[in-house]
Amino acid sequence: MSDVLLEAIDLVRHFEVGSSLFKKGKRVRAVDGVSLQVERGETFAIVGESGCGKSTLARLLMRLDNPTAGKVLFEGRETRGLKGKELTELRRDLQFIFQDPFSSLNPRITVGKLVGEPIEVHAPELDADARRQKVGQLLAQVGLLPEHANRYPHEFSGGQRQRIGIARALASGPRAIIGDEPVSALDVSVQAQVINLLSDLKSELKLTLLIIAHDLAVVRHMSDRVAVMYLGQIVEIGPADAVFETARHPYTRALLSSIPEPQHNHKRNPMQLTGETPSPLAPPSGCRFHTRCPFVQDNCKTTEPQLDEAGQGHSVACHHWRDIGKTAPPEQMKPRSENVAKRFAMYQAAVNESVNDSPENIRLTREE
Ligand SMILES: Nc1ncnc2c1ncn2[C@@H]1O[C@H](COP(=O)(O)OP(=O)(O)OP(=O)(O)O)[C@@H](O)[C@H]1O
Ligand SMILES: [Mg+2]
Repeated sequence: MSDVLLEAIDLVRHFEVGSSLFKKGKRVRAVDGVSLQVERGETFAIVGESGCGKSTLARLLMRLDNPTAGKVLFEGRETRGLKGKELTELRRDLQFIFQDPFSSLNPRITVGKLVGEPIEVHAPELDADARRQKVGQLLAQVGLLPEHANRYPHEFSGGQRQRIGIARALASGPRAIIGDEPVSALDVSVQAQVINLLSDLKSELKLTLLIIAHDLAVVRHMSDRVAVMYLGQIVEIGPADAVFETARHPYTRALLSSIPEPQHNHKRNPMQLTGETPSPLAPPSGCRFHTRCPFVQDNCKTTEPQLDEAGQGHSVACHHWRDIGKTAPPEQMKPRSENVAKRFAMYQAAVNESVNDSPENIRLTREE
């Protein structure tokens, strides 16, 4: 039986832009009807192009923002109305790490204080000594040294700062962590280390992880289930193996085909799809992907497809996924999942080879 920890039900977040006293504004449909369930103990990933609504969705799930419509449930309880003690409990149980370890840590506060703050809030019974000891343990747990507590964030490299961010997120003893692009600002070898750290912590502490990432190799490496977003909606969702090996939605196939060859890696190729991504101010009628889809047919332009079960918890929102599966995809849509596998191997190799930024070789880099 599934054990749902975090759930979104028909979640909508629209932003009014450009309105004034005399003029009605327009609506950005950033998140436009998303339902998903994150099960306890799994790593769930959300992928999609820039602007498709991933961060907006993450902020709703974290209760940093309220939905225009729909609900977020954490352990079966709607998070919207929570306040006081209940909200503090939610903040303890559901933590987040951000993309940019440079701006997400206050530069004027020592690492010890940054990591100690959540302990003060969530474990007020601990005295200063016990707190210091706990900070030391947390720093060690993320591969840093207890004595780093006396330093400031700017004295650390990017990967180390992300480790500090993770220690801070762990400090309250959360059940779940949401990471919005937690490694995309880091060098590839450092990315691999931080991903491995998160995976290790996940098993050690029995955490649930929700990871938002651009890089499909990162997602393949660490997730159990994946949701693919396009213009504020989920177009494909399922176990990572199913989504990567038998991608059904033409958009997912295009995303997979755009993964670069490892030997030309580091820079992502642009999506090999024709046409620009439409604006969330005016999403296309019918299937939102129809303006770029090589398989488009008449009903795609008028009728919005719903998520359809394609087997084994794998669902796809495309009218024609069954027929498309039987035809050979155009060259630019062929999933190149062997590239995902190659990049996956590259991540592993990067972890094994790199000495830079490894916990055994912590060098404090002072920036100008
Ligand atoms: N506060 C806001 N006001 C108006 N529009 C917003 C606001 N926040 C986000 N948007 C718009 O909502 C859409 C989704 O943005 P969001 O940041 O969620 O995308 P994303 O998938 O996280 O993109 P990226 O991969 O670039 O981080 C974008 O068109 C964005 O411009
Ligand atoms: Mg974002």
